[in-house]
Amino acid sequence: MSNPYRRDFPIFDGSDVVYFDNAATTQRPAMVLDAMKRFNDSCNANPLRGLYRWSMQATEAYENARRAAAELIGADDYKEVIFTRNTTESLNLVAYSYGLSQLHEGDEIVITVMEHHSNILPWQMVSRVTGAKLIYMEPERDGTLTDAEIEAKITDRAKIVSVAQVSNVMGVTNPIRRIADCAHRHGAVMVVDGAQSTPHMPVNVKELGADFFAFSGHKMLGPMGIGCLYGRMELLDSMPPFLTGGEMIEYVQRQTATFAEVPEKFEAGTVNAMGAAGLHAAIDYLKNVGWDQVMNTERELTERLMDGLSKIPEVTVYGSKDPDKHCGIVTFNVEGCHPHDVASVLDTEHIAIRAGHHCAQPLMKWLGVGATARASLYFYNTKEEVDRFVTAVGKVRGWLGY
Ligand SMILES: Cc1ncc(COP(=O)(O)O)c(C=O)c1O
Repeated sequence: MSNPYRRDFPIFDGSDVVYFDNAATTQRPAMVLDAMKRFNDSCNANPLRGLYRWSMQATEAYENARRAAAELIGADDYKEVIFTRNTTESLNLVAYSYGLSQLHEGDEIVITVMEHHSNILPWQMVSRVTGAKLIYMEPERDGTLTDAEIEAKITDRAKIVSVAQVSNVMGVTNPIRRIADCAHRHGAVMVVDGAQSTPHMPVNVKELGADFFAFSGHKMLGPMGIGCLYGRMELLDSMPPFLTGGEMIEYVQRQTATFAEVPEKFEAGTVNAMGAAGLHAAIDYLKNVGWDQVMNTERELTERLMDGLSKIPEVTVYGSKDPDKHCGIVTFNVEGCHPHDVASVLDTEHIAIRAGHHCAQPLMKWLGVGATARASLYFYNTKEEVDRFVTAVGKVRGWLGY
């Protein structure tokens, strides 16, 4: 196969599976697996609390991972990065801690109709508890958010604006900086769901104007169970804890407690240090590959894939017709076929794609469909895989008896 990176991924060794479900989770290179094994084999101990060598080494691995994550997203201070389980937990942290403590009846939370449920349900909860209102920005048919829509929906009532940098269904990259500028003009904080952007492009939270930024390790070559929340220190400092218990305290008395500094204040209980070591290795691996390589490969493959699908008359691709606006994510339907059938029949050809509502039911409704099929690429995919996929999609209706 014509991709030098594939040999770094043990799962591809001897496998003919075309893995096009990278928006759900990515594969892990040996470097990531080795880093976790090294942690396990050389210093597995509960970090942050032990005064012996293994525990101190575990703490060092954990804090070095925090530094790497902070550098990856351009945070000023590595303590502005909180480790969580994933993007979902990161967004819930902001909702429970910042949202519940800051919002009141009459306030507004502004999101878009293309958000993942992880960036909808936490805000529904805040709205229910505080009486704040949840407002939706609506994109154009190609997924673009216009300035007029941004300006119309974000008003002085907005206290939180929360938007995915890249949509997990349309693949469109949202104009975060413009949205953040508007949010800040009206005194709102800008929350960015970076689950689908961080793995695929250079991210800088300062340049984006993000007050909070969430992402998951498993979507960027790292292990499951480790994610990050960036928050501006001034905000994190003033926020109440999300979860409480061990590790996040300064002093506990029978009836009251004082809390540790950021980031420990938000990391209650035993942390996922082995996962953090894996994420650190994933970040190093991506740095070695380089963003130009990641983006150019994905762009080339996306163009080939969209071009192939455009030649199948029964296929509808959702979102923009421009491959540059898809970030490796192509969502489609085959006329007359349920997307679950499309995915199942492709699986018999050893092609793995996702089908369903993609945790974005309001967007499905907006698109006027119940479900879609989705192919999502990463830099380790190949032209041969794209060609196999396109050929198979072209045969799906026949295989299903149409
Ligand atoms: C845009 C977006 N936000 C949030 C999530 C949730 O990520 P996780 O399941 O890692 O919490 C996903 C997962 O697909 C996503 O695509």
